[in-house]
Amino acid sequence: MARRSQHALLLLSAVLASLVAGSTAGVYHIVGAGKGWRMPPNRTYYDDWARSRQISIGDKLMFLYRSGVHNIVEVPTRALFDVCSMRNITSRYQNGPTIIELGEAGPRYYFCGVGEHCEVGQKLAINVLLVAPPQLDTTNAGAAAPACLFRHAAGLAAACSLVSVLLLLMVV
Ligand SMILES: *[C@@H]1O[C@H](CO)[C@@H](O)[C@H](O)[C@H]1NC(C)=O
Ligand SMILES: *[C@@H]1O[C@H](CO)[C@@H](O)[C@H](O)[C@H]1NC(C)=O
Repeated sequence: MARRSQHALLLLSAVLASLVAGSTAGVYHIVGAGKGWRMPPNRTYYDDWARSRQISIGDKLMFLYRSGVHNIVEVPTRALFDVCSMRNITSRYQNGPTIIELGEAGPRYYFCGVGEHCEVGQKLAINVLLVAPPQLDTTNAGAAAPACLFRHAAGLAAACSLVSVLLLLMVV
């Protein structure tokens, strides 16, 4: 419980900090939606998740996981990603939950570097778009849809994401 509160506080700080910093256009994408970042039920789970989203510059990926149980490594090429190779890692994150802001367009490749987690499908390839699509959906937190009724009102998107995250943390 104490750990969960810490997680919640960390996320609250992160969300508030980004609000204060004025990044109003960024969309928070909760990776894996209701499942968070874990070994998925099948190999296409994170592919399916990514395919259903439009992810643009300035957006943030939220990886919800427990430190020590999972982590995130980023690799620069599809070839390394496909074979879960930890050679040439460009970034590593191990204190969950992790929020990654996407500052550049183009492909990004992430996977879990723990055990055989990548091999069973805990891996995420996305393509960051240059421009946000005109119909901007400000959250993807399907698990907390009722909390997001006001998501189209300016300024409430982050609060909506936060509520979603808090709900998710209770189940992760
Ligand atoms: C993978 O799992 C998800 C969630 O349980 C499910 O919706 C999806 O249909 C599954 N895909 C395959 C190919 O089994
Ligand atoms: C790793 O990076 C080095 C230097 O950028 C490059 O020469 C090498 O080919 C890369 N290795 C792999 C497996 O991608």
